[in-house]
Amino acid sequence: MANEVQADGTQNSGFVFTVSAVSALAGLLFGYDTGVISGAILFVQEDFRLSTFQEEIVVGAVLLGAMIGAAGGGRLADRFGRRLVLVQVACLFILGALGTSLASGATLLSVGRVVVGIAIGIASFTAPLYISEISPAHIRGKLVSLNQLMITIGILVSYLADYALAASRGWRWMFGLAAVPGLILLIGLLFVPESPRWFVKQQLRDRARAVLAKIRNPLAIDAELAEIESSLTQQEGSWRELSSPALRPALLIGIGLAVFQQFTGINTVIYYAPTIFQLAGLQSHSAAILATAGVGTVNVLLTVLALELLDRAGRRPLLLFGLVGMIFSLVFLGAAFLAENPTPALAWISLICVMAYVACFAVSLGPIFWLMIAEIYPLKLRSRAMAVATMFNWGSNLLVALTFLSLLRALGRPATFWLYALVGLVAWVFVLRMVPETKGKTLEQIEAAWRSHTT
Ligand code: BGC
Repeated sequence: MANEVQADGTQNSGFVFTVSAVSALAGLLFGYDTGVISGAILFVQEDFRLSTFQEEIVVGAVLLGAMIGAAGGGRLADRFGRRLVLVQVACLFILGALGTSLASGATLLSVGRVVVGIAIGIASFTAPLYISEISPAHIRGKLVSLNQLMITIGILVSYLADYALAASRGWRWMFGLAAVPGLILLIGLLFVPESPRWFVKQQLRDRARAVLAKIRNPLAIDAELAEIESSLTQQEGSWRELSSPALRPALLIGIGLAVFQQFTGINTVIYYAPTIFQLAGLQSHSAAILATAGVGTVNVLLTVLALELLDRAGRRPLLLFGLVGMIFSLVFLGAAFLAENPTPALAWISLICVMAYVACFAVSLGPIFWLMIAEIYPLKLRSRAMAVATMFNWGSNLLVALTFLSLLRALGRPATFWLYALVGLVAWVFVLRMVPETKGKTLEQIEAAWRSHTT
């Protein structure tokens, strides 16, 4: 595809795809490093004789680090540029992987996991941010969601690594292996250009033009530069602007989707799937782990489908459709747990419900939260606003992780899953009333639409 020019103004789409895929390796690390703990903790707990409290700290450290990373990362991406921040993040990932794999005790391990968390927190929004800014509008959904695809692959690989290394109690390897994709990301980034939109924001027009010359039809470059520049003249870039009547809906949508993505309970499945299956009657350890790998595979496959659908069906229909599926799966899962005793039938029903739930998440809230926060904010505020939404996402993630087991005890299994279903219902109404369609529009057109609603 060396220098192919498409009718829509994109040139060299193979290069844009490769550059997006390299950046999306950050997603692979996000998925791997959040997933790996589920298997590793069993051995860490025994080797370091952790108390329950220490165990919770080791497990929660990544989520805490991710909140810190998101909080600080917005300013970094503005100041140093998207690419350089990804380089820094890749170094942190490698450092964290080596540090955790060599840790001599619980405290050092927790510190290492916080470092990994900081990297995840920054990477989780910087990769979608970068990809959205280099993508042509008509395939932006697909390219940005490569990051979500990598997250799901990372989670699956972490399950498999945990499984393969369990026999040798190889928790140090489980953590250390993440250095490999970290290194590939670092090397790959050497060949990746900076975001042309960031260059324009920094008033480096010539450098922006040089990047666009690599990825766009020469005849379309001036128009794109003019569009970015004219949209910049309308932006203040202050926090006050983000809460102005024009942009307040965008702020609310980012935070709302962040919270709903987590409060509908996805990570109870991602982090606790074996527990759920054992409660439902899958007695053996290996059956529960196998079922979990099945869930990870469904997550990957349906995300591939989402990549194909996002730029065709659009974001809104997928969100609305996926949420309905998630709500029904959760209602049935809860109902299945009304049974007094675990039976093989219950085990099967719960497995089917969990798979259906993950499948529906994978075509809706999974990719679309990260995609939309990369689309709906004006350039001058984009990275900081994304960082805010991302912080809410990790904060909600932490809250769900900390409360799931207590909720099961306090409310019982059926009511716990119905509670997540209820949140799904509120999310559905929220999407119906608040979330705009962004399919096929340039980032500047999306911004103009916010302003035109208030004038
Ligand atoms: C979410 C993660 C989740 C993953 C599952 C991501 O979009 O942010 O919290 O674990 O999807 O695929």
